[in-house]
Amino acid sequence: MGGATTAALGEDISVPPPESTQGQATRKRVLSGMRPTGRLHIGHYFGALQNWIKLQNDPQYECFYFIADWHAMTSDYADTSQIAQNSIEIATDFLASGLDPKKSTIFVQSAVPEHAELHLLLSMVTPLGWLERVPTYKEALDNVKEKDLHTFGFLGYPVLQTADIVMYGEPDCALIVPVGEDQASHVELGREIVRRADFYYGFRVDPSLFDKGNEEWLGFVRAKLALKPTDEPAGQRISVGELAILGLIAKRYAQNVGFENFLKEMGPAGRFFPCDTVWSLPEFKLTKTPRIPGTDGRKMSKSYGNTIMLSESDDSIRAKTKVMMTDPARKRRTDPGDPDKCPAFDWHKLFSPPDVIQWADQNCRTAGIGCIECKAAMAEHLIRWIQPVRQRREEYAAHPDKVLHILDEGSAKARKVAQKTMARVREAVFHWEEKRKEIVAPRAIGKAD
Ligand code: TRP
Ligand code: SF4
Repeated sequence: MGGATTAALGEDISVPPPESTQGQATRKRVLSGMRPTGRLHIGHYFGALQNWIKLQNDPQYECFYFIADWHAMTSDYADTSQIAQNSIEIATDFLASGLDPKKSTIFVQSAVPEHAELHLLLSMVTPLGWLERVPTYKEALDNVKEKDLHTFGFLGYPVLQTADIVMYGEPDCALIVPVGEDQASHVELGREIVRRADFYYGFRVDPSLFDKGNEEWLGFVRAKLALKPTDEPAGQRISVGELAILGLIAKRYAQNVGFENFLKEMGPAGRFFPCDTVWSLPEFKLTKTPRIPGTDGRKMSKSYGNTIMLSESDDSIRAKTKVMMTDPARKRRTDPGDPDKCPAFDWHKLFSPPDVIQWADQNCRTAGIGCIECKAAMAEHLIRWIQPVRQRREEYAAHPDKVLHILDEGSAKARKVAQKTMARVREAVFHWEEKRKEIVAPRAIGKAD
């Protein structure tokens, strides 16, 4: 089948679901962010950055990576004194890890204030219950005792995150969000918020429903919506008011039965009710991360003191790995061990060449080597891996003005995209340009006469 199809009365026209534009997306944008909590450790690298860099180096993606300083503030509102410095530190670590400002747009969230405006608009349509049910929210309220997280800002965290993401969506452009498992529920909620906002601000009645020749359609729609016909014959210029009223009634109806069901009921007349996508639905891409436990076997985290920072010195790496946890069942040198139960072996897999991994694996199981020897070998490969990263880090750390400049340029670039998005969003929400034309245009014509 090919060629253009013209819709005729009675013909069954399938109305593509609102998100169908995603399927034809020609461009691909990647967006992700990190809160500036201080210097980064190797857990951050393998948990996120490595993947960011892989995406950046794939020419099919246009990447935006940002420092979520407003997000840091949702929990650290009482003391913001470190946020700026931490932002410079994290940017330095981004660059040291291989994020390249020539390939990726690296920016600071608060330097693109449009994020706050979009957060506000999306907050209007987000039901409280959706936010209160977010698992990470409930967990934080239960577990974090040193600060009061019962704030409006903290509750709205996922709305802000949604704004961050959809800001970089454009029609005809897929929007991909690489995140860890802990963030998946936020992105999922973001999709729900976007669906809801799209319905409120994208749903409309196509004015051609009132065109001459469409009287039968108009009658059909009216009957479906149980509206009395007006005396005004269709085909005449309909009043703005009538279109708006029909739009409102149809929208309320669609809201009650659900947009999909509404379209089903409308059948072929569904084409008069397009639901423009104001925002693109983000897809999240769960980052499959290799296991990188901390030196004590727990999740690597600054608060546990079990990290290796990207800036860690050789001596410190040797010292920390020396006392690192191993297979807890291997108590004596003569006990065979199980590398699969050993955090040090997880690190071998990240840093050591295959022959060394094999050497450790075999000799662990046969008690051929001791843990001290095994970990010392791993430490040397970790040091070899970290050296270029650390060196780049030192270079940037010696020139924070360069880092700042990169952030300024990235933020300006991001802001251009954000401004374009907001112009589109504002119009979809308020129709100010439409109103302006209505008010100004007739007078302008009058003057010209
Ligand atoms: N919430 C993320 C974190 O804690 C940071 C973040 C903010 C983010 N906005 C985002 C991540 C948008 C991905 C996309 O790490
Ligand atoms: Fe871990 Fe190596 Fe000790 Fe085996 S020998 S338990 S792999 S440190």
